[in-house]
Amino acid sequence: MSGHGTAIPMMSSPCGPLSGTAEVPGDKSISHRSLILGAMAVGETRITGLLEGEDVLDTAAAMRAFGAEVTDHGGGAWSVHGVGVGGFAEPGQVIDCGNSGTGVRLIMGAMATSPITATFTGDASLNKRPMARVTDPLALFGTRAVGRAGGRLPMTLVGAAEPVPVRYTVPVPSAQVKSAVLLAGLNAPGQTVVIEKEATRDHTERMLAGFGAEITTEETEEGRVITLTGQPELKPQVIAVPRDPSSAAFPVCAALIVPGSDVLVPGIGLNPTRAGLFTTLREMGADLSYENERTEGGEPVADLRARFSPDMQGIEVPPERAASMIDEYPILSVVAANARGVTMMRGVKELRVKESDRIDAMAVGLRTCGVDVDEGEDWWSVAGLGPGAVPGGATCESHLDHRIAMSFLVMGMAARSAVSVDDGAPIATSFPIFEPLMARLGADLRRA
Ligand code: S3P
Repeated sequence: MSGHGTAIPMMSSPCGPLSGTAEVPGDKSISHRSLILGAMAVGETRITGLLEGEDVLDTAAAMRAFGAEVTDHGGGAWSVHGVGVGGFAEPGQVIDCGNSGTGVRLIMGAMATSPITATFTGDASLNKRPMARVTDPLALFGTRAVGRAGGRLPMTLVGAAEPVPVRYTVPVPSAQVKSAVLLAGLNAPGQTVVIEKEATRDHTERMLAGFGAEITTEETEEGRVITLTGQPELKPQVIAVPRDPSSAAFPVCAALIVPGSDVLVPGIGLNPTRAGLFTTLREMGADLSYENERTEGGEPVADLRARFSPDMQGIEVPPERAASMIDEYPILSVVAANARGVTMMRGVKELRVKESDRIDAMAVGLRTCGVDVDEGEDWWSVAGLGPGAVPGGATCESHLDHRIAMSFLVMGMAARSAVSVDDGAPIATSFPIFEPLMARLGADLRRA
């Protein structure tokens, strides 16, 4: 688990054109949900293309601890023999979710309405992150939580023995909070209603419907009203996990900023609640096309083709797009530094409570590498220097955050001098093949 091991300092040097095909791993959000919903179904769910990153492996271990039989068949093929809604056993050990906010928050929801007790912990990054956003709505079902000051892990949850259904308006745009409430609602009688003012990724809703739950979504003046009927029998599924758009972002953005590049990134999930980065890049003038558009497993999928784009301009990213690209702002800021003019990003307060404070982590590293950044509580802006003009030549801190580490390494590929990160180990949480994949395209990445 990230943060438990030794730091891996890494360096990325300016490189020649990137070319070839980048087969990025499976979607992290869908991988977590496949294991958790598989564990709550009756019978065997079969999964292909599962992301075998540390975050997801921690969730697999957790599902075993709650009584599901989880088997790795090799090459991304897994099966989960579920115990049914309300069938979780009480774990005999502390559940360690490593670096994963999605893992811990979704699992808390999934166990919250069963009469069992579980204690959760994580690495130094996860143990700093706010959990009250999940335990507050879970308390409405009757779940009790005791954690450290400020609602931090380690934390013990006592599941509600006689849960009541809940109607809850999510106060922050968070798919993790929405999903935790829906998963808890599975074992409550009657209808649980979750209302979100801004649409966030909807994989939980889509997958619950696929597993046979009765779930509806209505767009109203209040926002998206999601209604779930409790205590269904979930039917096991055959799931082909699409490749992760958030991982695709790294080879795509690298190709846009490294002169002469032409990279194909096939089979990327383009659910509209996830694809905001690609829309933004195209608005900036990126040469980025969708090829072979199709639907796979209920999700829109396409092959992305990215070519070096010397004429990109800074833009104002609409705040209403934030939720659909929330994990992509760090790598967008690297593209922005290589574009001309200012890129303004507003409505992004949530970036401050991710694996790191991502505005702060990127602003400090970008400035160290010679890029001007302005920031406020919920906005930041990057002054683009134009293609190939980022000085680089510095070491940036990754703060136990995979996306910060990968963003700075991509920056080094197009900078004047190499960019280093103090610790690339967290990359294994979401993109364990990042180094060989980027090296095959032509990147010059080294472990220091
Ligand atoms: C995720 C939701 C997002 C995102 C995270 C994955 C999910 O977090 O940042 O990487 O799978 O539900 P929030 O719900 O905190 O916005």
